[in-house]
Amino acid sequence: MKLNIALLAGDGIGPEVIAQAVKVCDAVAIKFNHKITWKPALTGAAAIDAVGDPYPDETHEICLNADAVLFGAIGHPKYDNDPSAKVRPEQGLLKMRKKLGLFANIRPTFTFPSLIDNSPLKRERIEGTDLVFLRELTGGIYFGEKGRKDNGETAFDTCTYTREEVVRLAKKGFELAMTRTKKLCCVDKANVMETSRLWRETVQAMEKDYPEVTVSYEFVDAVAMRLVQWPNSYDVLITENLFGDILTDEASVISGSMGLMPSASVGEKNALYEPIHGSYPQAAGKDIANPLATVLSAAMMFEDTFHLKEEAKAIRDVVNKSLEQGIVTEDLAGKNKAYKTSEVGNWLVNNL
Ligand code: IPM
Ligand code: MG
Repeated sequence: MKLNIALLAGDGIGPEVIAQAVKVCDAVAIKFNHKITWKPALTGAAAIDAVGDPYPDETHEICLNADAVLFGAIGHPKYDNDPSAKVRPEQGLLKMRKKLGLFANIRPTFTFPSLIDNSPLKRERIEGTDLVFLRELTGGIYFGEKGRKDNGETAFDTCTYTREEVVRLAKKGFELAMTRTKKLCCVDKANVMETSRLWRETVQAMEKDYPEVTVSYEFVDAVAMRLVQWPNSYDVLITENLFGDILTDEASVISGSMGLMPSASVGEKNALYEPIHGSYPQAAGKDIANPLATVLSAAMMFEDTFHLKEEAKAIRDVVNKSLEQGIVTEDLAGKNKAYKTSEVGNWLVNNL
């Protein structure tokens, strides 16, 4: 099969972790007889430095025409403490999500048996956790009207949702629930927010189309609490953009390292795969960042976009093997030997 993949390394550790994922994908392609064409493109701070735009039109064209996008990370510290910066790397990410119509962000959280004790949570709380967040990604307060008034003394961000936006996300949630344990949790703040009441009434109205799915409705603050108390009581969770941003970071600690969790952002036509961690600028260029979240994102890409299940499984199996054998970067090594980012990548390739 011919796979045409846009490659957006981005900032910070992005290029290093992406390089490992590319090696692994190329090895998979050889093993299973596929032909991958990588189309590198600029994004984030790297793109601002080069052309003054964190998501240039040229990058958009490349993404639009690719079968899938593999993405590293975005963000640079020189912008973080400068609220007056005119363009910010993160705007590139938001523009990319919006322009590619990537409305559903799929963020799984699961535990690795060999890493259970790396989690800050107790073993008996997290064992067996296997949940998926479906975060709405192109609406809500991220994209609503925002600004300043009263001579800059008042600031506002508006949260807006249309029923249609809720329906398309919830539909993905119901469909995913049908392939799993048929349990769906709608996370909202319907006791306070009007947009949440729209979410709740819309999802309630869809229940009749999926009679086998058991839906629960929970407030976001309660979910934040239960997620670390009883994570394995959840399966598929659907929620709006900002709640999903916060809860998925929280959920990522369950697995023991943020450096492990993959994600996909999908729309009607395009799909983008990226690790859920950020650009980790302190580690950039040091060859120490954990590449596994990016490698596992590539596995999601093989499975979801290309429907190549065996290829995805081969990647997941070799990742599990590396964890079991302690071929891990410093975030997971503890007192044992820490391998370099590139060494982990090479090991994966040699053991595929
Ligand atoms: C994420 C990130 C982004 C977001 C930032 C970098 C804009 O935190 O993908 O979760 O808030 O969506
Ligand atoms: Mg986030």
